[in-house]
Amino acid sequence: MLIASLRGRLFAGLAVFVVGTALVAGYLAFRWAFDEAIELQDAILLQVGSLAANNRLEGRLPSEGNIDGEAQLLIQDLQPRNATGNSGTTHYGLPSDLSDGLQTIAWNGEQWRILVRTRSDGSRVAVGQPTANRDEVAQDSALRTIVPLGVLIPCLMVVIAIVVDRSLRPLSSLAKDLDAKQSDHLEKLPIAGIPTELLPFVASINRLLERIGAMFDKERRFVADAAHELRTPITALIVQADNLERAALSEDGRDRLQSLKSGTRRTAHLLEQLLTLAKYDSEAATDPPSSEFDRIVKGVVADLLPVARDRSIDLGFIRVEAVSVRAESVALGVLARNLIDNALRHTPAGGRVDVSLFVEDEHVVFQVDDTGPGIPEVDLDRIFEPFFRGSRFRGEGTGLGLSIVRRIADQCHGSIRLENKPHSKGSGLRVRVSIPLKEH
Ligand SMILES: Nc1ncnc2c1ncn2[C@@H]1O[C@H](COP(=O)(O)OP(=O)(O)O)[C@@H](O)[C@H]1O
Ligand SMILES: [Mg+2]
Repeated sequence: MLIASLRGRLFAGLAVFVVGTALVAGYLAFRWAFDEAIELQDAILLQVGSLAANNRLEGRLPSEGNIDGEAQLLIQDLQPRNATGNSGTTHYGLPSDLSDGLQTIAWNGEQWRILVRTRSDGSRVAVGQPTANRDEVAQDSALRTIVPLGVLIPCLMVVIAIVVDRSLRPLSSLAKDLDAKQSDHLEKLPIAGIPTELLPFVASINRLLERIGAMFDKERRFVADAAHELRTPITALIVQADNLERAALSEDGRDRLQSLKSGTRRTAHLLEQLLTLAKYDSEAATDPPSSEFDRIVKGVVADLLPVARDRSIDLGFIRVEAVSVRAESVALGVLARNLIDNALRHTPAGGRVDVSLFVEDEHVVFQVDDTGPGIPEVDLDRIFEPFFRGSRFRGEGTGLGLSIVRRIADQCHGSIRLENKPHSKGSGLRVRVSIPLKEH
């Protein structure tokens, strides 16, 4: 099984290694401690055996103090090997035919470890312990040697998990930084605090960002220059077309002239929008003046009232508060005009366009509500892209308006949100531009 995440791989690899090492170490420690305890018990048997061979001790050793019952020794004299009369067992039952030395025997249904010694007078004594008791004591002591290991392993796993997580955090935060980048904010990734292993990676991303930035700049400059260069010939075309109108023309000629004029008008509008976009694409002015947003909005609405009247649309204010914003007044005018123009363009005759300007939560909010069809959800993600006009566009337009509005909002450190009205409240779009209200 292949683990996809680096974090998972590191943790699994280290965990397998630590647990494997711990198992082997634990097994060896247990075995050694166990064998050592058995050896110790044999040594005690030997010593007590010597004692019993030189002195007459018998029965169970007196248990003074709190000697563990399991550790008690049995000391017993054996019948002489050639004794007659009984069938080779002592009165306690230990077989009399045991040979001298250490041995393990089955007696009374139990395994016993027995040491037999022959005294100088020929009598024999046996010292013994049930092996079950000996093993239990040895196991207890062996287990105690591996308890610290058992506590250490979980602690070690927790430490490994924390260290792995901490070490890989710069990677996730780097990915987050990159994800958050928008195509028009291509400043380099910060190098401070980045682990050395990641530095080459960050450096090459930064070089890539620089190249992309340069490419964007070139493209922008080209568009701005082209639009600028085309302005004069287009103006000349418009003048020529106006002149033609005064000439004597057939009915058909007049029709064609009208389509020529609307074509040149569209082109002129496109050029104006492109130039505006190029203007607000470049870096924000470092110290923009404070402009009276309410006055600007009122001016734009007054300009557009005739258009609204032509289309039988009720254009008006819901609420206008006197607010100032740190931005070029021309830019604020372009923003308001584009949004109200969109609303008028997409609202069917008899509809309403409501404009509001107010302060809410430390932000200046400029809001335009219409009763048009709204924007299909599938288009909302791309609607700010230059030249994108949605899957349902109709009528004249360039698809640049909303990109311009967003650039301007960005320059004021503000945000823009498009929201379709819920169906229960009828159709329509709400556009909300929110600009932080700074101390002026
Ligand atoms: N108020 C609105 N109601 C419905 N659709 C809108 C509205 N405003 C903008 N749109 C959609 O967004 C698209 C992009 O708008 P914009 O960038 O201003 O370009 P343009 O107006 O030149 O088409 C429009 O073509 C239209 O499909
Ligand atoms: Mg528009």
